[in-house]
Amino acid sequence: MNLTRRQVLAGLASLGVVGLGAGGVRYWLGRPENVASHDYELIAAPLDVELVPGHKTPAWAYGGQAPGLELRCKQGERLRVRFVNRLSVPTTIHWHGIRLPIEMDGVPYVSQAPVLPGEFFDYSFICPDAGSYWYHPHMASSDQLGRGLVGPLIVEEAEGSGFVHERTLCLKTWSVDGQGAFTAFSVPREAARGGTPGRLSSINGQHNPRISLPAGQVVRLRLLNLDSTITYRLNLPGAEVRIYALDGNPITPRPLGKEYWLGPGMRIDLALRVPAAGSELSLRNGPLRLATLAGESSESTGSDWPAALPANPIAEPDLGRAQRLRFNFEWAAMLSENIEQGAAYKLWQINGQAWDIQNKGCADRPIATLKLGEHYIFELRNLTQYQHPIHLHGMAFKVLDSDRRSIEPYFTDTYLLGKNETARIAFVADNPGVWMFHCHVIDHMETGLMAAIAVV
Ligand code: C2O
Ligand code: CU
Ligand code: CU
Repeated sequence: MNLTRRQVLAGLASLGVVGLGAGGVRYWLGRPENVASHDYELIAAPLDVELVPGHKTPAWAYGGQAPGLELRCKQGERLRVRFVNRLSVPTTIHWHGIRLPIEMDGVPYVSQAPVLPGEFFDYSFICPDAGSYWYHPHMASSDQLGRGLVGPLIVEEAEGSGFVHERTLCLKTWSVDGQGAFTAFSVPREAARGGTPGRLSSINGQHNPRISLPAGQVVRLRLLNLDSTITYRLNLPGAEVRIYALDGNPITPRPLGKEYWLGPGMRIDLALRVPAAGSELSLRNGPLRLATLAGESSESTGSDWPAALPANPIAEPDLGRAQRLRFNFEWAAMLSENIEQGAAYKLWQINGQAWDIQNKGCADRPIATLKLGEHYIFELRNLTQYQHPIHLHGMAFKVLDSDRRSIEPYFTDTYLLGKNETARIAFVADNPGVWMFHCHVIDHMETGLMAAIAVV
């Protein structure tokens, strides 16, 4: 019999052989068996990492790694995370893409008080949707995400996915110099444009890694863009590869095609037929290599293209009865003027309003108030020369159409709104709370491109 390590541990624990010391929690295939209060103890703390060979980068880590520890949970089950802040600054955790109660959404002064240095906060919520999600702070974001506080949250399909093999690939491009020292996470001139980009690409914290995969097998690749700025133009030349899910939500599988633009915060689940042992593929951002995927001979057999993943239980918006609202995303004013007036946060606006991250009262003035249970169509109009990955907390929305590309409607939590594009999204406002609605280019979000949407 092939016991998993978890079964072994659980067995030993029930015999009292494995003792977990007082408060001692181990992350073990995600699930310690005998901890009553939580499934994970997730600690945020400083950690030196080696991004540039031979040099240290003073990162901030979740669970002793940057990007953070992969958290896993089964669809429909409760995830309980005791978050411990061992940083020198206050922080929170937001669970990107998870439809959860507002108290667990991790937005400071909106859904909770900041978690102060030395304190902890117990997050506990059910994960209703399977797929690839992630977590990150929602305060001092350019600094905290820039230093590495980003991590994957994988929600496994309740009934299994049909995939035998899978890998999680966290994409992040670090703002470091040749000696591994951090460079500015946010530069005003860049914030006024596409956002401040890093220089060193990485997958799971390694620049240009070589990733071995079982030759001939079909492998699920969960690609998560945990970067603050970069839209990766993903391509895999010569590969047999299909898209199975976008931003957590299943689609009818289709070929990856030439390139997929994965904006900050977005995820894509691919199925890849790994080439024969000894052959390699190059995972690229446009023309730039991000990783080498290498076929390695393996024992495993028989994994083939699975059927489409089961749809998540998201309410279908009724377009006939939906109310329509329009949101204009605009570039606010002359940069120099703003900086002189000390109002650098006002570079971007939604419907003429700029969010001020210094002002705790902003959430008291929602840009829209929706009626609980009602159906809505949002028209998103990008009046700028830059693209914006537009993200909504608390609810998944369906992308209906765009004036720039043909869209097969799909559910998501983040839509990459192209330059001067107008797109329509729809959803049922079925989650009460005050939900953030913002661009996920962190520089944009911190200089105005954020709003609160109330559902009451
Ligand atoms: Cu990743 Cu406010 O979100
Ligand atoms: Cu979010
Ligand atoms: Cu933006």
